[in-house]
Amino acid sequence: MQVERMLWRMQKVTQIRELRQIIRAQRRLGKSIALVPTMGYLHRGHLSLVEHAKGDGVFIVMSLFVNPLQFGVKEDFSKYPRDLERDAEMAEKAGVDLLFHPDVAEMYPQPVLSYIDIDELAGVLCGTSRPGHFRGVCTVVGKLFNIVQADKVYFGQKDYQQYLIIKRMAEDLNFAVEVIAAPIIREDDGLAMSSRNVYLSPVHRKEAVVLNRSLEKAELDIGNGQRNARMIGKMIKEQITQESSGQIDYVEVRNAEDLTELEEIKGKVLIALAVRFGTTRLIDNKVVEVKENV
Ligand code: PAJ
Repeated sequence: MQVERMLWRMQKVTQIRELRQIIRAQRRLGKSIALVPTMGYLHRGHLSLVEHAKGDGVFIVMSLFVNPLQFGVKEDFSKYPRDLERDAEMAEKAGVDLLFHPDVAEMYPQPVLSYIDIDELAGVLCGTSRPGHFRGVCTVVGKLFNIVQADKVYFGQKDYQQYLIIKRMAEDLNFAVEVIAAPIIREDDGLAMSSRNVYLSPVHRKEAVVLNRSLEKAELDIGNGQRNARMIGKMIKEQITQESSGQIDYVEVRNAEDLTELEEIKGKVLIALAVRFGTTRLIDNKVVEVKENV
């Protein structure tokens, strides 16, 4: 076992053609294929998805691609943190079998004329402040689905709206893949792990814990009987404003199944927020399930 472990190497592939050959060979061996899409600069949140993907006879593919299509012109595509060597080491240790890290020319060899767009779900929350973002996400994830042809794909609830959108896209377009969500992984002080956290100044890093704290307070209030969605939103906004210098992009309480607006908190509810600390925009959320008449 020890020797096996030492001999085992993660494969690193940049070409779609080569990836397809390897996947075909794994399929012939009877393996099922799991896909973990990422933009790299890995942290424990990403690695938790690999943990969820593990299982007997599962070949785990992690994609690592900073997708230009999902960044707005004024966003941080060129500044997005990258460290392939470190990522490859972390992925291998975590148990990834194949790291697919194409360059932009491999993924987009010609100007893109075909996109995957999704209505309604993409027009709210992060879709409002990042127009075109989810079109870019859906298009690249659709391409990855076609390239890898995985049986299962894993997404973090950290990006809850993204997960919901991809799940719906897979249903609407009959992608033969099961879309699985995994819980948010947090730092010890509660801040949701994110590749962008490295950009926070020490002061902002400390202040940013207010995001999770306000979400926890909201959950507590709901547990204590608060059913007014507007009040929950107001309370979170006040707490963030009072306890930090964060600039609120949105704080919203919505139906967690279809992201429609709510007045009364009932059923499965998403409390989601996006807040800027300096130039760094952080998102976080909590899904709360309210069983009625308890
Ligand atoms: P990225 O931000 O690198 O995230 C890759 C995956 O890791 C996503 O499914 C995300 O939800 C998950 N993740 C990030 N932080 C997490 C945390 N703290 N806990 C649990 N999961 C976490 O999301 C993207 O990349 C891109 O949009 C992508 C889907 C790869 C398409 O380009």
